[in-house]
Amino acid sequence: MKRHIVMLPGDGIGKEIMGSAKIVLQTIATEFGHQFTFAEHAIGGSAIDQFQTPLPDTTVKACEEADAILLGAVGGEKWDSLPGDQRPEKGLLGIRKALGLFANLRPIKGFLPLLHASPLKEEVIKGSDILIIRELTGGLYFGEPKGRIEKGNAVVDTLYYHRTEMERIIDKAFQSAQHRNKKLTSVDKANVLESSRFWREIVEAKRKEYPDVAVEHLLVDAAAMKLITQPNQFDVIVTENLFGDILSDEASVLTGSLGMLPSASIRTDGIGLYEPVHGSAPDIAGKGIANPLGMILSAALMLRHSFDMHEEPDEIERAVQTSLDQGYYTADLAIEDGIVVSTKEMTDIVIGNLSTNSVSN
Ligand code: NAD
Ligand code: IPM
Ligand code: MN
Repeated sequence: MKRHIVMLPGDGIGKEIMGSAKIVLQTIATEFGHQFTFAEHAIGGSAIDQFQTPLPDTTVKACEEADAILLGAVGGEKWDSLPGDQRPEKGLLGIRKALGLFANLRPIKGFLPLLHASPLKEEVIKGSDILIIRELTGGLYFGEPKGRIEKGNAVVDTLYYHRTEMERIIDKAFQSAQHRNKKLTSVDKANVLESSRFWREIVEAKRKEYPDVAVEHLLVDAAAMKLITQPNQFDVIVTENLFGDILSDEASVLTGSLGMLPSASIRTDGIGLYEPVHGSAPDIAGKGIANPLGMILSAALMLRHSFDMHEEPDEIERAVQTSLDQGYYTADLAIEDGIVVSTKEMTDIVIGNLSTNSVSN
C-alpha cells in the first residue's frame, strides 16, 4: 500500500518524539511491504519563528493533500506572551478546523505492567478501558465573539454549537459504543448551561436510533470524580470540546502517565490527524527523556483509522506491551523496579520488539 504522511513535529518534545513514530512506521512498511512517504512541515512556535505565523498556508495545503497527518505538540514559554490569535496553539486549532476534524478519539487503556505506575489503587484501575470522544471544532474554543471588550475591562468567550455539530459527534459516539461495550456516558453541565441542555436533548433523541446502547448522563463535575474513583463503569464518554480536553488529561492518570495517551482527530472520511494527548512539555524538552509511546501509539491509530490496517497497528501495540513487560520505562513512569531509558532507547526497544513479534516474519 502506498501512503503519504505529513509530519508536523511542532515544538518542545514534539520534535523529539516525531522521529520515534517515523522509524516505527518505516519498520512496519518494510515488514509488511508498504510504501510510506513522509514530508515534514512547520506548525506552532517553530512556524512562527520561521514564517511569522503558527499555521503557514503551505502546511495547510500539504495536510489537505496527505493521506494522514502526524502531529507532535505545539507551544512553549517563548511564545506565551503573543496575542491569542498569534500563539502556537492557534496553529493546532487552525489545522483541526481547516480539515474539519470534528471527532477526537482518546482511548485510555492501561498496560498491565504500568498498573502500579499510577498513584491510584491497582484494584480501582484494573480492567478500565475507556474511549473519550471529544467534540473538537466547536464550543468555547471557536465561538465568536471572543476577546477583550469594554476598553479592556471585560472579556468574552462564546460557547456556540449548531445542532448539526452536536448531532454528528453524538452519532459518532453511539456508533463507537456499538462496536465496544454498548455503554455511552454523555457528560455535560445541564444544571447550569443552556448548551448542555440542548446537548442532552439531542442525546435523548438520538438514543432511539441506537436501542442497543445504554445511555447515562453525568454532570461534568461528578464525571471528573467518577473517572478516577470508578473508572471501570465507563465505556464510551462523549462530551463537548473543553470538558473533553480536561477529562482526558485527568484520565491519563489511569495509565500511569500523560505521555502514554494517543489520539485520533477524524472526520467522516478517512483523513485524520494523529497526535499524543500531551503538550510540548517545556519542563523536560531538550533532555531526550520524553516518553515516545503516546506518539508511537498515535501512529498505530493512524494505520487503523486512516489506512484501514489491522495487523500492523496490532503489532505496534503488542511491541509497546512487550517493551513494558520487559521492564523498560521512561522517567515519567514512576516504577520502582523498572529500567529507566531515554526517548531514543525506548524507541529502539519498541523497534526491536516489532521485528521479533512480527507475524509476517
Ligand atoms: P504538557 O502536556 O506539555 O505537560 C504536562 C506535564 O506532563 C509536564 O510535567 C510534562 O513534563 C509531562 N509530560 C507530558 N508529556 C510527556 C511525555 N511524553 N513524556 C514525559 N512527560 C510528559 O502540558 P503543559 O505543561 O500544561 O503545556 C505545555 C505547552 O504545551 C503549552 O504551551 C500548551 O499550550 C501546550 N500543549 C500542547 C498540546 C498539543 O500540542 N496537542 C497539548 C497540551 C498542551
Ligand atoms: C490538546 C491541547 C490543545 C487543546 C491546546 C494546545 C490548544 O490541550 O490537544 O488537548 O486544548 O485542544
Ligand atoms: Mn489538552
